[in-house]
Amino acid sequence: MDELTIAMPKGRIFEEAYELLVGAGYDLPKELDDSRKLIVEAPNEKFRFILAKPMDVPTYVEHGVADIGIAGKDVLLEHDRDVHELLDLGISACYIATAGLPDTEMDEVTPRIATKYPAVASHYYRSKGEQVEIIELNGSIELAPLIGLSDRIVDIVSTGRTLKDNGLVEYEKIADITSRLIANPVSYRLKQQRITELVDKLREQVGR
Ligand code: PRP
Repeated sequence: MDELTIAMPKGRIFEEAYELLVGAGYDLPKELDDSRKLIVEAPNEKFRFILAKPMDVPTYVEHGVADIGIAGKDVLLEHDRDVHELLDLGISACYIATAGLPDTEMDEVTPRIATKYPAVASHYYRSKGEQVEIIELNGSIELAPLIGLSDRIVDIVSTGRTLKDNGLVEYEKIADITSRLIANPVSYRLKQQRITELVDKLREQVGR
């Protein structure tokens, strides 16, 4: 049986992804969750897990150092990677939206948009025929309109709490987001049986 290397996103998505795999019947080590180790073996299943930053999961998969991975659709929209999207896992549901201070118009000359999704934001405003300046940040995007760095943000909304607690409001929804199972195209061909078996078990689990 071929060993499968799986890139897992650390952080928010991790727990739901882990539960999904356990629910699908896989025998996974507890330390996947509990330790700071970045590579964890699951010998009973011949799985090797790489624990990566969510934004980096498709990079590992595209380069073939992970056969498959679990990545948010937000990351897949932002970086056009050469990976197969095999299954919508339906977990970590949220959406990308524009937001800003309430009752404010965007600057008429060059509205400034702060985001950690520059490609998604550019594409969105271009599709509306609006010219904007994109300001790329790595986190705490909600700060930008509060301190006058931007007119709007393009960011993930999950519970809406961060916007609310900072006195911001949502303007337009851009895209619904869930996590996806992705595969390296060569691994998919060479380890098709193992990967298909995993997809079938997960599909049953997520009811799709
Ligand atoms: C994300 C996102 C928002 C927040 C939305 O940030 O960028 O800030 O979560 O969640 P909510 O609607 O439930 O409040 P994350 O916590 O991943 O950290 P970051 O600010 O470092 O990007």
